[in-house]
Amino acid sequence: MKGKGLIAGNWKMNKGIGESMDFLGRFVDGLEREGSVSELIPASIEIVIFPPIANLYAIKHAASLKKGVYLGVQNVHWKASGAFTGENSVSMAVEAGAVFALIGHSERRQIFLETDEMTSKKFNFCVKNGLKPVLCVGETDEDRKNGLAEAVITRQVIAVLGSREFPADFPPLIIAYEPVWAIGTENNATANDAQESCAAIRKVVGRSIDAKTAGNTLLLYGGSVKSSNAEDYLKQDDIDGLLVGGASLDPDEFLGIIRAASFLI
Ligand code: PGA
Repeated sequence: MKGKGLIAGNWKMNKGIGESMDFLGRFVDGLEREGSVSELIPASIEIVIFPPIANLYAIKHAASLKKGVYLGVQNVHWKASGAFTGENSVSMAVEAGAVFALIGHSERRQIFLETDEMTSKKFNFCVKNGLKPVLCVGETDEDRKNGLAEAVITRQVIAVLGSREFPADFPPLIIAYEPVWAIGTENNATANDAQESCAAIRKVVGRSIDAKTAGNTLLLYGGSVKSSNAEDYLKQDDIDGLLVGGASLDPDEFLGIIRAASFLI
């Protein structure tokens, strides 16, 4: 038993308000079928849903949103406000109900060309303004084939921790290891490979900050996680949770993943 963990669902650009309410209704029915909500979602596990920002406020105020289920935003800008058409600020996301923010997701890095520097600015801005950032890192298929997987994830972590503007005891860092080749492909990393990469990330945190911070850091694996493979990852020493894309859109699948966590965390 690890004593703490986090299961996150990244809905990406899926589900409008109606579909979100339908999800919540089915999710709650599923929870209630299982018995007590607090049994399935023990206090040691944080559940976070990252819906599109347009739905945050409606979901936050839905009667069916259960205690223990937090909301997050998929992207924010690093400035407080201003002429940034199409962007959302941290304070807007907080006001709409977000507690967490995904930072540096590979789709942001690859499709929207976000750099390590932008990622670092966003991370720091979230910490200072009350959103808990979930830093996403991961190598591409090409990086892995060239033997650069560890070097790439180390660079991505150091870009943020090296320029950190927050105290070492900022509790706790959350870093998701998401190999790009495993996202949305059904080609999930083996539990051993995911464990190795997460252990490498913990070491980088230790070297960049200190051993205590490294020990407290929550490390998530993401990339084609489903209810049928969740347990394999959660059994690993350095994996404290999961960041789930496709499977989090289906309430029964997402519940299955939470159930696996509730036995192992
Ligand atoms: P996936 O996505 O579970 O669909 O692979 C994970 C993610 O992008 O966070």
